[in-house]
Amino acid sequence: MKWLILISFFCFSLGTISDFRKVSIVTESYVTTKVDLGQKLFFDPILSLDQSISCASCHNPDFAFADNRAFSIGVNDSIGIRNTPSVMNMLSRPYFFYDGRSATLEEQAIIPIENPIEMNLSYDVAVKRVQNNIEYDSLFRIIYNTKPDSINIAQALSEFQRSLESDGSAPHDLWINGIQDSALTTSQIRGRELFISDQNKCFDCHFGPDFTGDEFRNIGLYDEITLMDKGRFDITKDSTDLGRFKVPGLRNIALTAPYMHNGMFQTLNEVIDYYSNPYDFVQHPINTDTLMIEPLNFTIQQKEDLVNFLHSLTDKKIPLTSR
Ligand code: HEC
Ligand code: HEC
Repeated sequence: MKWLILISFFCFSLGTISDFRKVSIVTESYVTTKVDLGQKLFFDPILSLDQSISCASCHNPDFAFADNRAFSIGVNDSIGIRNTPSVMNMLSRPYFFYDGRSATLEEQAIIPIENPIEMNLSYDVAVKRVQNNIEYDSLFRIIYNTKPDSINIAQALSEFQRSLESDGSAPHDLWINGIQDSALTTSQIRGRELFISDQNKCFDCHFGPDFTGDEFRNIGLYDEITLMDKGRFDITKDSTDLGRFKVPGLRNIALTAPYMHNGMFQTLNEVIDYYSNPYDFVQHPINTDTLMIEPLNFTIQQKEDLVNFLHSLTDKKIPLTSR
């Protein structure tokens, strides 16, 4: 008996070690809608070359569908070149990726599947795999009235991602919508004032319901010395786009560390230190936005208030997690 317990414990630990990158498949029992079907695909390593990586390996619900590493790990332990963003609140986004190279989620979905350092599988092969899977074949026939194909697979993944909208439960939502006046602390209210003030300009770029205006801006993280990612320029070849990146939305930002396209800041405190004086971090930025030229030089109290405010943008409930 003792041995049995020991052996099963041993197998269990082995299992957890080899599965460390896999995120459990939360679906299974009840797949009745396009969203359910997309969710099943999103958590399924079937879409990667060696069946080891799913979308959720990098877009993990526990980190608001982002990752907690500067660069995520793809198949064969390859390391990515940009930080994994959250895929929550994608519904209103006009384009995707830090450089905006995809205009729709449907178009976007195929790119990580084929990317050699992510899932590394030709999309045609991925589609065939799904077609040859008896369970998917029957689910697609029930839900899409046709067999799985290159269009409905991307569409199901997109429908799932479009369902991942914040539900208005973040303290800032409760406060701004007059549902709970005590939802923000006095420090968070001061932080909010700093965030929207004309002097600090955060709101000039991070505006709208998801705290992004969906523009491409350069906050000084490109210097051609150590910071080489040209961002939007690689797509447009327009020199005014050098070092510009898509302004990220800030909902659930406290859950998605590290920060920026290259994951160079570990904490929100570091992000605010950067905004306080970017030149402490990057001495000779190229093509910086005019809004960013003068350092803001926050006091310690102001920094703390801004960080506390950013924490008020965290939803009480993140889909598919216990939180
Ligand atoms: C190996 C890690 C990894 C895997 C696997 C992965 N992604 Fe991503 N994802 C990233 C990274 C990194 C980016 C940002 C890349 C960039 O901006 O150039 C990204 C960006 C995105 C975006 C754009 C978000 C935005 O704010 O613009 C979406 C949507 C997305 N991924 C969905 C998916 C889907 C769907 C799958 C599965 C088919 C998937 N990802 C698989 C790492 C991954
Ligand atoms: C000129 C436009 C602009 C201004 C002003 C601005 N931001 Fe940003 N912000 C951006 C861009 C662009 C990025 C992404 C840069 C990158 O990844 O290289 C970003 C990134 C961030 C991030 C990290 C997001 C993530 O997912 O990694 C936080 C947090 C943030 N900004 C907060 C603020 C605060 C607080 C202020 C005011 C003190 C502010 N921003 C002012 C454009 C701006």
